[in-house]
Amino acid sequence: MSKTKMKYVCQNCGYESPKWLGKCLDCGAWNSFVEEITATAQKPGTLDISSQSTPQKLKDILFDVEERYSTGMGELDIVLGGGVVRGSLILVGGDPGIGKSTLLLQVADNLGNQNRKVLYVSGEESIKQTKLRASRLSADSDMLFIVAENNLERIKHHVDALKPDVLVVDSIQTVYGSEVTSAPGSVSQVREATNQFMNLSKKNGISTFLVGHVTKSGSIAGPKVLEHMVDTVLYFEGEGHNLFRILRAVKNRFGSTNEIGIFEMTGQGLKEVDNPSKIFLSGSSNREAGSVVIPTIEGTRTVLVEMQCLVSQTNFNMPRRMAVGIDYNKLVLLIAVLEKKVGMVLYNQDVYINVVGGMNIDEPAADLAIVTAIASSFKERRFPEDMVVLGEVGLTGEIRAVNQVQQRINEAAKMGFKKALIPSANLEGLNRPKEMHVVGMKHVEEVFNYFF
Ligand code: TYD
Ligand code: MG
Repeated sequence: MSKTKMKYVCQNCGYESPKWLGKCLDCGAWNSFVEEITATAQKPGTLDISSQSTPQKLKDILFDVEERYSTGMGELDIVLGGGVVRGSLILVGGDPGIGKSTLLLQVADNLGNQNRKVLYVSGEESIKQTKLRASRLSADSDMLFIVAENNLERIKHHVDALKPDVLVVDSIQTVYGSEVTSAPGSVSQVREATNQFMNLSKKNGISTFLVGHVTKSGSIAGPKVLEHMVDTVLYFEGEGHNLFRILRAVKNRFGSTNEIGIFEMTGQGLKEVDNPSKIFLSGSSNREAGSVVIPTIEGTRTVLVEMQCLVSQTNFNMPRRMAVGIDYNKLVLLIAVLEKKVGMVLYNQDVYINVVGGMNIDEPAADLAIVTAIASSFKERRFPEDMVVLGEVGLTGEIRAVNQVQQRINEAAKMGFKKALIPSANLEGLNRPKEMHVVGMKHVEEVFNYFF
């Protein structure tokens, strides 16, 4: 009889160790190891090598463009790279309560309405609960089937019997296979289930959506351990108190990864936001000191985002710097540039900066907007409210050229902005939209002297 072997697996990243460890050597998570039984390896000599896989010449393989279809939600289609690919495996991750089940039920209903057979496997909610949600979303497609099931073998049986075009598994962490001995949600279970769904969807051309919770506690395996197994990884993000949700592609074998989709959570489910710029501007057209608008690029789209800054005298020995939506180190660096190159005294000032609407900006083109927002709040002078700001700021205070200026300026003009401050180097060849006044500058000192 073979001896059962035990191993310890980090539930955060899947790192394996023969002994229990307090801290994972790989990802650094604390107290994340759980004992699991090693799956019995196949005995040598028992592997069937008469299988069909034979090497072929790559150039001889017939190429057919992957079949895609729309999900009925434009924003989701954009993030997927132009619709769902038949037979692909898509992982939708996100914090609990962010709206993953809502999104997928809506998508399932849309696809059902396009005459595709959809099976929604609910491992977390009873059929009644899902029905309740469906009635809120008015999901009543004829082709949408639902089953409350956690057992992997039984789910596979249902799939074989129903032969759906689309399968939704909500969530992968609740699925368990009888052959794996560890608890549902553990790394081994989640991996095994994902593997099985992968085979199922590739073999039968079923597009499969897996829901995965992001967990901080490490008691159940996070979607991180599956990212390499699936075709596409989408993350659904948003602040709890904010109704806007951003869907982001982190990995996509069938499209680009820098696209985002924006949704709003309403009483009737998720609504697509057609004009993202509107939600990232704080609404009032009367902007206060410290507020500056920047046209950022998200994937292929331009989104106008408002940056707000508050500079106030510090009450402690050390001034505070706080950044929400931009990198903290970038803020510290730009403050240093302002102090050294413009002579602004900030060592006794707290500086808080916030990007409106919960957006994260990490492109250098936002540097000048950050600098201008700080200067505007420091000086208590309002920045022209019909002006957008663009530019990368170097350590010597020079303003450097940025990419895709034309696209950004066009979007700003479309949103009713009348002026734009851009790097001088970007002026050449720029096609000014009608009624748009474009100013080019070379150094932050110039900006400071001109506006403040
Ligand atoms: P849910 O899809 O259950 O989140 P997840 O599956 O990611 O855990 O969504 C949960 C929240 O969404 C819940 O707090 C209620 C809210 N909600 C609405 O505001 N409107 C709706 O129409 C629905 C169905 C949910
Ligand atoms: Mg859910």
